[in-house]
Amino acid sequence: MTENRPGYYGRFGGRYVPETLMAALDELDAAYRRYATDPEFTAELDDLFHHYSGRPTPLYFAERFSRELGKGRIYLKREDLNHTGAHKINNALGQILLAKRMGKKRIIAETGAGQHGVAAATVAAKFGLSCTVYMGEVDIARQSLNVFRMRLLGAEVVPVRSGSRTLKDATNEAMRDWVATVDDSYYLIGSVVGPHPYPMMVRNFQAVIGRETRAQLMQAADKLPDYVVACVGGGSNSMGIFHEFVAEPAVQLVGVEAAGEGLETEHHAATLSKGEPGVLHGALSYLLSDSDGQVLEAYSISAGLDYPGVGPEHSFLKDSGRVNYQAVTDGEALAAFDYLTKTEGIIPALESSHAVAMGMKLAPTLTEGQIMVINLSGRGDKDIHTVAQSMGVVL
Ligand SMILES: Cc1ncc(COP(=O)(O)O)c(C=O)c1O
Repeated sequence: MTENRPGYYGRFGGRYVPETLMAALDELDAAYRRYATDPEFTAELDDLFHHYSGRPTPLYFAERFSRELGKGRIYLKREDLNHTGAHKINNALGQILLAKRMGKKRIIAETGAGQHGVAAATVAAKFGLSCTVYMGEVDIARQSLNVFRMRLLGAEVVPVRSGSRTLKDATNEAMRDWVATVDDSYYLIGSVVGPHPYPMMVRNFQAVIGRETRAQLMQAADKLPDYVVACVGGGSNSMGIFHEFVAEPAVQLVGVEAAGEGLETEHHAATLSKGEPGVLHGALSYLLSDSDGQVLEAYSISAGLDYPGVGPEHSFLKDSGRVNYQAVTDGEALAAFDYLTKTEGIIPALESSHAVAMGMKLAPTLTEGQIMVINLSGRGDKDIHTVAQSMGVVL
């Protein structure tokens, strides 16, 4: 647990929100604390994880991938095999159960790659709540498949035309909606970002990834991993797998940001590698900003990593040195996408491909018997058009 006082991770986190939201955040915090340890709530969530989402997801030994890259053993945590195709459903299921118990009638969500939007629309359909998803116009264009899925699921998808027309702007609009409708609407945030209690709550709903990984690896190899590698957008799949191992100093944790066209250019989304502390979407954290403190536009080929902020706990883990944050370019991610597809028959999401690319860089340094776990946060079906475009192929 790196939360030193409620809502803070070192100096990061907090609640930088309009007065109108303070009561709603207190209500949410109280509901979360009440239900997080309620046996009926946790049993219902476990049941949904198992029967609806398909958990536990496999911890798969990528034998060919490992053998071709070096001496170590590389395992993939298969979050791509969850219902709806990514880890986002873990958090969406947890939060919808809270929304129901809090008597809310409507769900608001923001989305970048569309995976969280699909997860929110899915759980809203299952539990009979209405759902409005805010999505930047740029992301709508590159993730049209997920937009159609959300609409099929009965959600209203609202195009956001302000700013960079990506995830940051969609989050602004979702928060604006929430301020105006806070009595009957529940804001279902999709990552470990936003004001307290969201970063803590989303991490805890995602922590099932790390718990399963530890148990599965103990069974398969009777040891802890030497490395755990995960991509970082807002930071939920990485916090979800890291949380279990933060207190295990022998486990090296590697977070992978998007270096886009290169860290030396202005076109990247490497918030922790290149940002400065600042406030975005209700929390103090690292942020891509200019010398006046204005938020800069982020860029990545991967819509889910294209965000100028990051969860506050990651900022703390960077400053404390517990997690090693690296960045991977679009080109390296595309090469890793291709390599994993061809060596293992698994098509990863472009977000997850960033973690795979980092794994490929680390693999030659592994010695006999060392183990690396890569969190495969999602499947690549949603990215086929982007990949085809990058290859000059018209579908
Ligand atoms: C498959 C996948 N992985 C990773 C991410 C990045 O989000 P986070 O850093 O919160 O896990 C996304 C976001 O949309 C995603 O769809």
